[in-house]
Amino acid sequence: MAFENNLPSSTPSGEGGQCPHEARRTFLKQSSILTALALAPTAAIKAAELKLEEKVAAAFEQVKVSLNINGKKHKLSIEPRTTLLDLLREQLHLTGTKKGCDYGQCGACTVHVDGQRVNSCLALAVMQDGKEITTIEGLAKGDDLHPMQEAFIKHDGFQCGYCTPGQIMSAVACIREGHADSDEEIREFMSGNICRCGAYPNIVNAIKEVKNGGQRV
Ligand code: FES
Ligand code: FES
Repeated sequence: MAFENNLPSSTPSGEGGQCPHEARRTFLKQSSILTALALAPTAAIKAAELKLEEKVAAAFEQVKVSLNINGKKHKLSIEPRTTLLDLLREQLHLTGTKKGCDYGQCGACTVHVDGQRVNSCLALAVMQDGKEITTIEGLAKGDDLHPMQEAFIKHDGFQCGYCTPGQIMSAVACIREGHADSDEEIREFMSGNICRCGAYPNIVNAIKEVKNGGQRV
């Protein structure tokens, strides 16, 4: 009968002999795969936007270092490309050390590493493992300012003050190195520290006073 021929057949009729339920399941499975494939580029773009690859890589690339900063031991995990300046400012919040040029040209970032002055923007933090770092925060003894800090205040060795931490760290090193015997020598050995406010004459006077005062720096 024609009516009977229109009823769903209970005999295998689909491709590969599938019943209608199986055929439906196969269709749904295939649709899901196609949907996932269609969505994959979006997910990849999203991941790229979030810089997920970089973040995962950074997590695996952490290096352990141990630094003595201003008399305090710090055990840290850092990215190998972190500069000493960024470590001090961003991770340890020692923001007295300033970032001026970030290219080794202004001296605002000067700190002492094992007693030597260093532009911390050019020094990789991983290379300082086991070393003693002194920043401007570590120069004073409690409430007693370092003689160079006192002299800068007395001689108005700053205006805006942005270069001042670097100037003071360099000035201390300049005397320790034995390069503060004349105005010319001081200017020469302080030439790596730029002051946009032009406080140079007062800075030289401050350094001369500390040098001539014979105080221990
Ligand atoms: S910030 Fe390091 S030299 Fe300028
Ligand atoms: S005091 Fe302003 S840059 Fe030196």
